[in-house]
Amino acid sequence: MVATVSTVAYLGLEARGVEVQCQLVPGLPNFIVVGLPDKAVAESRERVRNAIAAIGLSLPPKRITVNLSPADLPKEGSHYDLPIALALLGAMGVIDAETLSGYVVVGELGLDGRTAPSPGVLLAALHAGEQDMGLVCPVAQGAEAAWAGQVEVVAAPDLLSLLNHFKGTSALSPPQPGAVDAPVRTADLKQVKGQETAKRAIEIAAAGGHNLLMVGPPGAGKSLMASCLPGILPELTPGEALETSMVASVAGTLEGGRISRARPFRTPHHSASMAALVGGGLRVRPGEVSMAHLGVLFLDELPEFQRAVLDSLRQPLETGEVTVARANAHVTFPARVKCVTHVN
Ligand SMILES: Nc1ncnc2c1ncn2[C@@H]1O[C@H](COP(=O)(O)OP(=O)(O)OP(=O)(O)O)[C@@H](O)[C@H]1O
Ligand SMILES: [Mg+2]
Repeated sequence: MVATVSTVAYLGLEARGVEVQCQLVPGLPNFIVVGLPDKAVAESRERVRNAIAAIGLSLPPKRITVNLSPADLPKEGSHYDLPIALALLGAMGVIDAETLSGYVVVGELGLDGRTAPSPGVLLAALHAGEQDMGLVCPVAQGAEAAWAGQVEVVAAPDLLSLLNHFKGTSALSPPQPGAVDAPVRTADLKQVKGQETAKRAIEIAAAGGHNLLMVGPPGAGKSLMASCLPGILPELTPGEALETSMVASVAGTLEGGRISRARPFRTPHHSASMAALVGGGLRVRPGEVSMAHLGVLFLDELPEFQRAVLDSLRQPLETGEVTVARANAHVTFPARVKCVTHVN
């Protein structure tokens, strides 16, 4: 019998449905994962094996095959541990596979069976909502997932309590959405003496969402005035806050499911690489320009940035999005930012 569990693969801000299929067939005992897993997914075999041992079960002496379908889509990340473990328990007959069919499952497992957070849960929850399904995720991310609204979220502290929940012996309580952070108080424009023209320019840029270039002698207060900007930016609307939170969720920076209504204000150092600024790297993560989506990207000491890095910002500033092309996939992140730059 093939047991299946739904999960997702993250492609930029899109969560694409992935089916974890598990089958036990007679043969030499073995446990293999196929379907273009990366190193983190391939290693999940060991975590799953130990987590299942931690709840007092041993793997059947059979050939265990786990397939991640669609098989030609690369799978990255540690959030496949929990769906693989549940598919395996389904194939072993420990858990009823039918009950799992209504849920999208994401989460990392520890060797002792505890769940651990992994980036992107908010996206998985929104995907589950679109499919009229529930979501199973680690307890540490229940508050983040609950922001998705009308989605049944099961936030489990460990594998055993998840099994008990599905068996009906002890139900897990549904998580509440995380707190909305009050805007952090930063430098205030009133502490800037004089500089009336510059202050007016900053106010107009903040109100109208314009790019701003400040030129002036050293010590004239350019950095100071730029740091006052977060204080006068308008708050994010609830819809915008969800958008910026989705970027933060993929980047794994949404701690405790806390959502902020303050506009992002990112100040990358001038030694930043192209991957850090526009996104990319071994695992495709949003860059500073996407982390500043709907907010401000402040490039202090503009001439010190590498020329190639500055040139790479041209296209995102014009189109409002970044497309990172990889050998096997194209990933698009939003990047509607206003740029404040600073030269002497
Ligand atoms: N108009 C002002 N009102 C109050 N403080 C000021 C003003 N201008 C400068 N300062 C103070 O002077 C110091 C230097 O200012 P700041 O670092 O903003 O200058 P800058 O223009 O960014 O210089 P650089 O070009 O060297 O980066 C800061 O401590 C700042 O608080
Ligand atoms: Mg400065």
